[in-house]
Amino acid sequence: MYHLIRKLLFLLPPETAHHASLTGLKLLNKLGILQQKIPYHPISVMGLAFPNHVGLAAGLDKNGEYIDALASFGFGFIEVGTVTPRPQLGNPSPRLFRLVESEAIINRMGFNNKGIDYLIEQVKKSNYQGILGINIGKNFDTAVENAVDDYLIGLNKAYPYASYITINISSPNTPNLRTLQYGEELRDLLKSIKKEQASLQQQYHRYVPIAIKVAPDLTDNEIKSMADIFLEQKIDCLIATNTTISREAVKGQQYVNEIGGLSGKPLTQVSTKVIRQFSQHFTGQIPIIGVGGISSQQDAQDKLEAGASLLQIYTGLVYQGKHLVRTILNLDS
Ligand SMILES: Cc1cc2nc3c(=O)[nH]c(=O)nc-3n(C[C@H](O)[C@H](O)[C@H](O)COP(=O)(O)O)c2cc1C
Repeated sequence: MYHLIRKLLFLLPPETAHHASLTGLKLLNKLGILQQKIPYHPISVMGLAFPNHVGLAAGLDKNGEYIDALASFGFGFIEVGTVTPRPQLGNPSPRLFRLVESEAIINRMGFNNKGIDYLIEQVKKSNYQGILGINIGKNFDTAVENAVDDYLIGLNKAYPYASYITINISSPNTPNLRTLQYGEELRDLLKSIKKEQASLQQQYHRYVPIAIKVAPDLTDNEIKSMADIFLEQKIDCLIATNTTISREAVKGQQYVNEIGGLSGKPLTQVSTKVIRQFSQHFTGQIPIIGVGGISSQQDAQDKLEAGASLLQIYTGLVYQGKHLVRTILNLDS
């Protein structure tokens, strides 16, 4: 069925197809004909009980407008955002490209979003009772030296409504954002965030775990020193990985020269390698959410074996539809 829908959707420009499919989903969900039943297979991570280990990755529902519709796919958790303190338009279009041959996407959306206040309103309106991650970022016109201010705004506003909060320091589409992944910048940012988390915990009498989302474009040494800082600062979870700026795996294909982050199949092995490396440094002390090019049960298995406890998908959904959740959970064999 999705095969046919995809044929039609792929006739549209990618961003139009994105909005059309989400609007359609919302409608179908209201009519009650979307439910995908997934057996309950609870797993405890970050002190939270996840009903299964497959989640929706950030960026598909940036404003939290489709939470109920997406929940009908049977995800174990949903991550909304990235959202910034103030609304922003993102980069000019076109900014989303399909590399159909390799079931991949290049995007340079640039955190287009309606701002955190709007997102929180959507969360309040939704009926979803499951695990909700809120992914926060900085506005493009906030200097990277002041990025912490934006993250603290996001943290404060998201805290009462999130099951966990993701600090996104790995989008390739916000200039200099990825510099926050290294050295003293990273340590200082995490110190401030952990301090604020402690004070919010007192205020709300509830501990909301903090996850950090990293890029796949890291050297072995960078991974080692980041892992040391994550352990030292006692972050609650790592999300690995975001999209890659490498075009190594898609040489010669249409759109490869478009600037932005590449996701989908060409990212699978790179992100699994990053998960494995972090996992070796963490020795079980920090859980990992594995994301990047999961499009089969084997891909999912590889990431779990590399050290991930939970998984997320985005691009695979665009190419395969909601059935991918069942495929990953091996429910059809
Ligand atoms: C169009 C698009 C927009 C994205 N936007 C975000 C975002 O706002 N925040 C974020 O943390 N990740 C974002 N991502 C990255 C995904 O969450 C995910 O980490 C990445 O695409 C790798 O997973 P995949 O290969 O399953 O898509 C985006 C990905 C795509 C394709």
